[in-house]
Amino acid sequence: MEVVIRRDEDAAARLTAQLIERQLRSKFTSVLGLATGRTMESVYAELARMHREEGLDFSLCRTFNLDEYVGLAPTDQHSYRYYMNDKLFRHVNIDARNTHLPNGQGADLKAECARYESTIAGVGGIDLQLLGIGETGHIGFNEPLSALRSRTRDKSLTPETIAINSTLFGSESHRMPKRAITMGVGTILDSREVILLATGVNKAAIIAKALEGPVTSMVTASALQLHPSCKVILDEAAASGLKETDYYRWIFENEPDWAPYRDEQGKREAGK
Ligand code: F6R
Repeated sequence: MEVVIRRDEDAAARLTAQLIERQLRSKFTSVLGLATGRTMESVYAELARMHREEGLDFSLCRTFNLDEYVGLAPTDQHSYRYYMNDKLFRHVNIDARNTHLPNGQGADLKAECARYESTIAGVGGIDLQLLGIGETGHIGFNEPLSALRSRTRDKSLTPETIAINSTLFGSESHRMPKRAITMGVGTILDSREVILLATGVNKAAIIAKALEGPVTSMVTASALQLHPSCKVILDEAAASGLKETDYYRWIFENEPDWAPYRDEQGKREAGK
């Protein structure tokens, strides 16, 4: 695992978008795992800008989202399908047929979860999985006690997640679903590379547990410690509960792989 701390939310989102750009430019047919939520909005805005202004090509890539609420139609403005169309897909040249989310409306959710897993396997697995983290420590909707080897399934959300996410439903908060289909922790760990992005002080305590605490199903993001290629991108606020920040900064300053991104940060800061 590598931990990179950027000055603010914009810089963290921009670095995340640059890593996705690098993946797409090195393999046009990449299979991307995508997340929704507030944190990702600036990442998708930056990817849309890269498409518009720098020709970033999505035409051959395939995407699989982590999760979808049970019971919401794809056309429902609170569904994750709607979110993805609105925040990313309609702004880039992706083929809609290559974008996948679980169908939270299926009559047989078990069959839908099995179908989703086999569709991912059928395209050869996920090259790069993007993740956020919930305040309960969830990745996808793998709430506390989710098995660390779990696969795609339908799950109850915790009261805390329901309370936090229902604020996005505005005056319709009563419509917030209590269940979701989510990739499992095991599904996520099968991705060849993972990027977790967390910003804001509300994430500081859970980031400290996930990164520097024990691996435990009580904080499913801690399972990323087992992943062979996981990058965690934070802003200063989300990193504020960590103990080993000097070490993380030293790695970023010294690892050759990070050189292009260090230089850019230096140039941007010098220009200010
Ligand atoms: C969303 C997802 C969730 C979110 C997490 C953080 O597809 O899988 O794990 O990434 O709940 O959400 P925000 O960014 O709204 O704080």
